[in-house]
This record gives sequence, C-alpha cells and structure tokens, in this order.
Amino acid sequence: MRNNRKRISRKTTNQHAVAHYGADILCSKEHKRCDKFIQHGDTTVRKHTTSVACMAVAIARKTHLKFDYQAMIRGALLHDYFLYDWHEPHHGLHGYTHASLALKNAAQDFAISPIEADVIKKHMWPLNIKPPRYREAMIVTIADKICSAKEVFGKPIYNKKVEEILNEYK
Ligand SMILES: [Fe+2]
Ligand SMILES: [Fe+2]
Repeated sequence: MRNNRKRISRKTTNQHAVAHYGADILCSKEHKRCDKFIQHGDTTVRKHTTSVACMAVAIARKTHLKFDYQAMIRGALLHDYFLYDWHEPHHGLHGYTHASLALKNAAQDFAISPIEADVIKKHMWPLNIKPPRYREAMIVTIADKICSAKEVFGKPIYNKKVEEILNEYK
C-alpha cells in the first residue's frame, strides 16, 4: 500500500481540507442522497458525515502525526453511507449492522482504498468489536462520537462551516 501520509500546511483550514480531499464525493449525486435521511436531531446524514470529516481533520492535526488526509476525509464522508431511515422500527439492529452496509454501498458507488474501508467498517468500534487498524480510522471513530453527541443534544458542531462546504457542492 502506498504511504500517502503527510501533514497539512498551516495555511490550509480544516474546512478547505475537507472540501478539497472530499470534492468528488461531496459533488456526487450519490452522497447528496444522504441529505434525505436524518442522523440525529435535525442533522441530515450528509451534514453529519461532513462535520465528522471536519472534526477528524481538527483532531488529527492536534496530534502532529502524519495522516492520509484524503483517505480519512473520504472515509469520514462515507462512514454512514447506509442509505435508509434508521429511525424506522424494523432497523432495530442499525447500530450493529450499518457500518458493514455503509462499506458495501460505498464500494459499489466509489473507488474505496483499504484505509477508507477500515474507516467505514470500524467507525462503530467498540460497539462493533473489531478495532480500527489504521490511525485514520481511530480518529474518525472518535470524531463520530463527539459530533453525534453534540447533534443529539441539539448543538451540532461546525454547523456554519459544514453549510459553507455543502453550498459549494449543491
Ligand atoms: Fe454510524
Ligand atoms: Fe456517524
């Protein structure tokens, strides 16, 4: 596997990193389908995944380690690509099953790298027992929990920045 890990220049904002590395996913009609489904509160899956990508970049930069930012951002944008309304009662096992389904859907619609697959498949760790293999996946699982908690309590994180990113890719 090619090592694409690096640090992002200080001049690049988290928001611009997400818009840049996630461009092809963000502008795809497939990812736009995620706007039809609510994740938590009144945050759609498209907004949720974009905010998780921003949060993952913010956390990764704080570590001063090198990351494959492209894979981490693309994986974050697709980590909840399950494409149904999980609030419907027959999706009772959603918490356990959606990561695998998201990966299956993502692999059908996009070219997915091994790191991206790990980000998507392992993001529900420790609920899904197998831990992340790559540091990019570990960061996304942390970012997902922070963003999800904020959304549940009606205070979605990066709301304005996420809207600015998504307005670019309407
Ligand atoms: Fe999820
Ligand atoms: Fe999520």
